[in-house]
Amino acid sequence: MLRRALLAASASPRLRQLITTAPRTRAIVDSYVAGETADDAVRVTRALHASGLLVTLDYLGEDTTDAAQAAAVADEYVQLLGKLAAEGLTHGGTAEISVKPTAVGLFVRAGLAGQDLATQNIVRVCAAAREAGTTVTLDAEGSDAIEPTHRILSSLRADYPDLGCVIQASLRRSEADCRELAGYGSRVRLCKGAYNEPESVAYVAKREIDLAYARCLKVLMNGAGYPMLATHDPRLIEITGSLATLAGRSADSFEYQMLYGIRPAEQRRLANTGVRMRVYVPYGADWYGYLVRRLAERPSNLALFLRSLGSKS
Ligand code: FDA
Repeated sequence: MLRRALLAASASPRLRQLITTAPRTRAIVDSYVAGETADDAVRVTRALHASGLLVTLDYLGEDTTDAAQAAAVADEYVQLLGKLAAEGLTHGGTAEISVKPTAVGLFVRAGLAGQDLATQNIVRVCAAAREAGTTVTLDAEGSDAIEPTHRILSSLRADYPDLGCVIQASLRRSEADCRELAGYGSRVRLCKGAYNEPESVAYVAKREIDLAYARCLKVLMNGAGYPMLATHDPRLIEITGSLATLAGRSADSFEYQMLYGIRPAEQRRLANTGVRMRVYVPYGADWYGYLVRRLAERPSNLALFLRSLGSKS
């Protein structure tokens, strides 16, 4: 309930102003975000790689409203890929890229024109990623962005078969999407879903979402694709391991994924068992939407944050 209320309230300019100017916001942002620049992102990637972790990088920003800004986001990714490649951090997919379709123009223009603009920008990022020896994954956003994102994915899969996508288990459509996307070589990241969706399209009770995740997980692990299991939930991580054994999957045929700053000791523990463990690392100045989703996920984070609003330093 609290989670849904915070997500709903996050569109308010007053709440945005309050959160972005609160005295201790910076410390909380720093615990979830690598920094503001591509050099910060490369530095964090280097450190994670040194401790045996794979990385996916997200340049923060969403719901871009003009074409020039959408192109600038794609430029940022191209430059970032160049910097990562120069340090040998992209080879074999060590560090890959996560792109939000609305950040590269999906809703800048109405309908197919927005989709075309986002596609052009995503193609530029995919081409740079291929040159650097790595891959791109399309993030999943609000439910209004899912259908066009899947259209972009299917239009690009012929040229970029390793272009990955994200499925949000909380959406009622997702089990069917998993069946459709579980084909050979298909890279699919499964997460619970961080957006506020109506009951008509999504499960809203935690138990229902967890059960939906387990069903989607089963489809992906029994399929022929490359599942990327994005969760910090200990029970779902354990189920993933059991399903991998039952399906006879080798350790390099799927991966675990977690967010930067969340359960870092568990990230290292998993990596030390010999499985592939990838950390989602966001960077950039436009961290508001990302931070609100992280606060909403965890009541204790929110309580800490609310206390900091009342403090003077
Ligand atoms: P759940 O929220 O039940 O948390 C399980 C446990 O994890 C908690 O008990 C706590 O220990 C820990 N935890 C979770 N969140 C925490 C937090 N914020 N702070 C501290 N501890 C926390 N969503 C989306 O809609 N579209 C997307 O494209 C993506 N992409 C994505 C990539 C990757 C790699 C990950 C890991 C996640 C996403 N997500 C996402 C976010 C996802 O949908 C979901 O909101 C979060 O992962 C939290 O859900 P859990 O599965 O961790 O379960």
